[in-house]
Amino acid sequence: MAPLAQSKDKDAKGFRRPFQRGGTWGSVEYSVVLGALITIVATVWIAQNFEQVWTIWRAEQTAEELVDDGISNLGWKDHTVQITRLESAVELGAVQCTGSFKAFVSVVSRYDRAESSALLLVVCLDGSPPAYYLDRGSGKGADKWIVHLEGGGWCRTAAECLDRAFTQLGSSRYMPDEIYLGGMMSSNPAVNPDFYNWNRVKFKYCDGGSFFGEVNEALTMTQSMANHHSERTATVYYRGMRVWNAVMTDLLAKGMENATKGFLAGCSAGGLASTLQCDNFKNVMPEKATVKCLSDAGFFVHMPDIKGQDSIESLYRDVVTLQNITERLPESCTSVRDPSLCIFPTYRLSTITTPFFMLNPAYDNWQFYNVLIPSSADPSFDWESCKSNLALCTEGQMELVQGFRDVLLNQLKDLITNPKDGAFINSCYTHCQSEQDWSWSGADGPKINGKTELLTTSGHLCIRQSISQVVGEWFNDDTAHIVVDCAYPCNPTCH
Ligand SMILES: *[C@@H]1O[C@H](CO)[C@@H](O)[C@H](O)[C@H]1NC(C)=O
Ligand SMILES: *[C@@H]1O[C@H](CO)[C@@H](O)[C@H](O)[C@H]1NC(C)=O
Repeated sequence: MAPLAQSKDKDAKGFRRPFQRGGTWGSVEYSVVLGALITIVATVWIAQNFEQVWTIWRAEQTAEELVDDGISNLGWKDHTVQITRLESAVELGAVQCTGSFKAFVSVVSRYDRAESSALLLVVCLDGSPPAYYLDRGSGKGADKWIVHLEGGGWCRTAAECLDRAFTQLGSSRYMPDEIYLGGMMSSNPAVNPDFYNWNRVKFKYCDGGSFFGEVNEALTMTQSMANHHSERTATVYYRGMRVWNAVMTDLLAKGMENATKGFLAGCSAGGLASTLQCDNFKNVMPEKATVKCLSDAGFFVHMPDIKGQDSIESLYRDVVTLQNITERLPESCTSVRDPSLCIFPTYRLSTITTPFFMLNPAYDNWQFYNVLIPSSADPSFDWESCKSNLALCTEGQMELVQGFRDVLLNQLKDLITNPKDGAFINSCYTHCQSEQDWSWSGADGPKINGKTELLTTSGHLCIRQSISQVVGEWFNDDTAHIVVDCAYPCNPTCH
């Protein structure tokens, strides 16, 4: 069960020896023949075992760290992490007023507004307390904190938010009591060598507005169900900013106030949130702490869809309006364009002063379905097979697919201006890669040719780096680590 196989460690150490110069041999001929033989065997062996060599090398490092920490990897077990629900401090008091309300999907017949003491309530969409999962750090990680913000899209209308209020993306009542953490949140050092022993917080997304909305009023809606024979009444709150603040306060009191390192990450809508909240996170952490942020699949490109419609723009405009987000967006942006557009990372990244890492596939499949080719832009379903698998795209479609990558890279290029920023832009057709073991660091996960090189007798052999390795090196370094993949379909590690 141990992910580090001891016998392989020996092989891994052994494989470097043939490349070392020197050594004494009986005769020149013998030395040349044997040297050539060893080189050939070693080259073939490396070619065949490339991924294994890589994995083993990572594991070796980890084993050393483990010895440092005085714990044994053999003791590592898959384990679940318990939920922590915040206590809601303030009771809901209500000043009611009523009106009529129209919605797209479900029919909302009337709404009431609750004000007064509800002003202070820190709640998910449905009024339940916010929640997170915390796996405590140990050893050298005991005073280091990683906070990962969950994703899950947005709700753009009151009716959509009401639907969401009856799911775990809108209510802690539906969240599981315990979960597994993977990838950069894993407690397994073989999977997650840089962060496995940190305090790891999985922050549940339950506000529908990327942890950034703040509306004082609560909206009580009565919604007729699809069968028209029954109704349900619920109050909806847009309080993401307060949820963020309350959970930060709770974590600081649990030890984060003494953190030496802090890392804010998030995937998708959580990746956007990590962009929006990055400097706020830095500001609540101790001044001396090293603080960095990462967005996983949160680089939503500002562009029209293939029919020229402003699909993603209108989605964000709705969310920003519904959730009263404008006032927290940078004035340098809101003063020069439609303020609701300033939620796009394109306009936000250059204002972030904390070191920032953008992890995003150049062919983000969520964005293909929602930014580039939403169903409204493809009424005759011409793109269905291309969207399901890029290998099935026609030549003409492929041009637009590559065009999307060009736009993404262009928008990013101008943004990575901080000499301490990082990026991993691979050419896989995927979305969110930081929380699955295989995509984060697995032998068969995505890799890009990186900076690390091994000297071989035949010159330089470029080592392909996993996401885990590039992010780990970047976090522990004070320099930029930017790796951008060649265009699809060049990368054999994408599958
Ligand atoms: C919108 O948010 C601002 C703070 O960002 C707040 O002052 C204002 O009262 C909010 N508006 C509503 C309608 O809740
Ligand atoms: C932070 O460190 C100080 C000084 O050692 C200690 O008094 C305090 O309790 C610590 N805070 C937490 C939340 O552990």
